[in-house]
Amino acid sequence: MAAQTQLKGPERFPALSTTSPPASSSRSRVTDLPATEGMAQRSGSGLHFFAVATAGATFVLLFLGGLVTSTGSGLAVPDWPLSFGQVFPPMVGGVLFEHGHRLAATAVGCLTVVLALWTVVGDARPSVRALGLLALLAVVLQGVLGGITVLYKLPLAVSVTHACLAQTFFCLTVTLARSLPAPRGRCHGRADLRLSASSPGSPPGASSASSCSAR
Ligand code: HEM
Repeated sequence: MAAQTQLKGPERFPALSTTSPPASSSRSRVTDLPATEGMAQRSGSGLHFFAVATAGATFVLLFLGGLVTSTGSGLAVPDWPLSFGQVFPPMVGGVLFEHGHRLAATAVGCLTVVLALWTVVGDARPSVRALGLLALLAVVLQGVLGGITVLYKLPLAVSVTHACLAQTFFCLTVTLARSLPAPRGRCHGRADLRLSASSPGSPPGASSASSCSAR
């Protein structure tokens, strides 16, 4: 305590100092966080962004699915998993809606596979990992249901289940995006904000780092 009060200016607040930190320092110069924590935050931000993008793509996919139903294009393509035996059939009439929906669903399926794997590898919380795997299971089931509804000529029960699972899957992606850490800038992660929020006696950067990551 006595030693701390004798320190003045930059010595008392190392983050204000214009001199470089010692080479042995394990703290990041900009955020004043341990270097490993800074790396984890950056990785978490990428995962959060990817989860938001997946949820956004799923939102668009719900519109495209609704277009298939409302234009009566559900049987415009009679086969599955290929369309008229092709990956890219001529996009004429209802095929545009039905096959376009399939292509968008394939893209969302790929995004979900990456998101689930990234979540399992990049997040330590079992509940969040389980959410990622649940989303993966849902998208696989949704694709199979879409195929079955085509092959059996739109049985009501399957079409309704496909529609309901679509919304459940969207909710899963949104919940996952909300569960993953947001970029630091959104929650006072900037060094200047954090310095002004620190009380003079507390270590620089200590105030907002914990409130930011403990969401
Ligand atoms: C992530 C994957 C998918 C999602 C989120 C999704 C979502 C949707 C939604 C929201 C609808 C509209 C339901 C309604 O308004 O009643 C729909 C309809 C439809 N989807 Fe999908 N879908 C997916 C994958 C697929 C796949 C892979 C196929 C493959 C054939 C498919 C085939 C259909 C068909 C045929 C309809 C029209 C059903 C009807 O008119 O009764 N879907 N989809």
